Amino acid sequence: MKIIITKDYEEMSAKAFDVMKEVVVNKPDAVLGLATGTTPLGLYAKMAEDHKANGTSYKNIKTVNLDEYAGLGIESDQSYVYFMRENLFRHLDIDLANVNIENGLAKDPEAECARYNKLLETMVPDIQLLGLGSNGHIAFNEPGTSFDSVTHVVQLTESTIKDNSRLFDDISQVPRSAFTMGLANIMAAKKILILANGANKAKAVAAMAYGDVTENIPASILQKHPNCTLIVDEAAAALLPQA
Ligand code: GLP
Repeated sequence: MKIIITKDYEEMSAKAFDVMKEVVVNKPDAVLGLATGTTPLGLYAKMAEDHKANGTSYKNIKTVNLDEYAGLGIESDQSYVYFMRENLFRHLDIDLANVNIENGLAKDPEAECARYNKLLETMVPDIQLLGLGSNGHIAFNEPGTSFDSVTHVVQLTESTIKDNSRLFDDISQVPRSAFTMGLANIMAAKKILILANGANKAKAVAAMAYGDVTENIPASILQKHPNCTLIVDEAAAALLPQA
């Protein structure tokens, strides 16, 4: 894992943007694996700014998102599909027919997972962007998830429900389950870019990058990926040996 430590969130986002832009410019029909959460917002703002200022085109870009809350759809401003439209897609010239995310409203969750796994076989991300949960999760793969997992429905842990409740009016509104790409899907990406900022991620960052590779810290599997870059601000890097 290549590790880049930045002084703050702004610099983390700028460096992440450089990596993402290189992929988009070198391969105008690339598949981008995208993530939600507060971590990538700075990167998404830079992609939008750059598209506006320099005309970088996403016309032929395809995207696959990591996860979605069960029970939420585009009408809910807490859904991940809404988040992606609002924070990224509406600012780019991307064709919405080329963007993919699990359908949180699917009547048959098993069939939805099967559909998404099939799609991922034909759309291997050229780059997969990831945030990191404070308990070491990636996407919604909570501690204990098998490294062999593919897209599945997951019951969220209390710690994730609590972390994510800051984005809801009240904790009772946070969905208890979600659709998520599995760890095997994530590891299939050609390149991985994981971002983390803030002191509340420091423990998970150190465990992910330098701890044992264990299903108790799902992100630790990334130590085995041949092309993974971690960009982390000083606060989140505080417990790394070289920090
Ligand atoms: C959420 C999402 C993850 C995200 C992580 C960190 O639960 N499912 O995809 O990376 O937690 O979120 P944040 O970036 O808001 O800290």
